[in-house]
Amino acid sequence: MIKQAKFVISNTDYRKCPAPTKPEFAFIGRSNVGKSSLINMLTNHKNLAKISGKPGKTQLINHFEINDNWFMVDLPGYGFAKVSKSIKNTWEKMISDYLTNRDNLVALFVLVDSRLDPQPIDLEFITWCGQHGIPFVIIFTKSDKQGKSKTNQNVSKFLDECVKIFGEAPQYFITSAQNAEGKEDVIAFIDNEVIE
Ligand code: GTP
Ligand code: MG
Repeated sequence: MIKQAKFVISNTDYRKCPAPTKPEFAFIGRSNVGKSSLINMLTNHKNLAKISGKPGKTQLINHFEINDNWFMVDLPGYGFAKVSKSIKNTWEKMISDYLTNRDNLVALFVLVDSRLDPQPIDLEFITWCGQHGIPFVIIFTKSDKQGKSKTNQNVSKFLDECVKIFGEAPQYFITSAQNAEGKEDVIAFIDNEVIE
């Protein structure tokens, strides 16, 4: 259960993040996929994480502390075309350094837009996670934007691609920041990993 959520700090460098003494869960995915919205939905806050209609809103590693007991981390999106190559490289290095060095990272939630066919950039990213031993879970977002059967179709297609890559399907959740679908399931997953 999330009783309390507070912003702690924003960083460009994983070494300046809060001491890695509490379990941590991070959210990543393509720009505009709904990472910040999901964090607000899960924590019952309107503006804890900054949201925008324009991709590229979140540009730092943002730590939130939950129940004084674990961290939730909002990360910048990948695959955002409208930034310069050098900014893109800086972001990618910041994110990959964070993901490969953060010892207390329990799980990385990789957000995937439930409206789309499997996107090469998402498949490339989870392949990279697999290669680097980053434990990840897929979260399909924006399920409110279309009917259930369309969502299920896209989820199946994505999981099929995962089976091709990993030989098995990853754990996944279907969510909507609009109508809170999946909220209890994601929180139950985290609660199961965190001892309070
Ligand atoms: P960056 O920080 O730019 O990488 O984006 P982000 O992944 O954090 O996305 P953000 O939460 O800022 O949301 C992007 C847009 O999608 C906003 O206009 C949100 O209101 C909208 N959005 C996010 N989640 C949902 C959802 O579940 N349903 C609907 N209908 N809209 C959503
Ligand atoms: Mg964001």
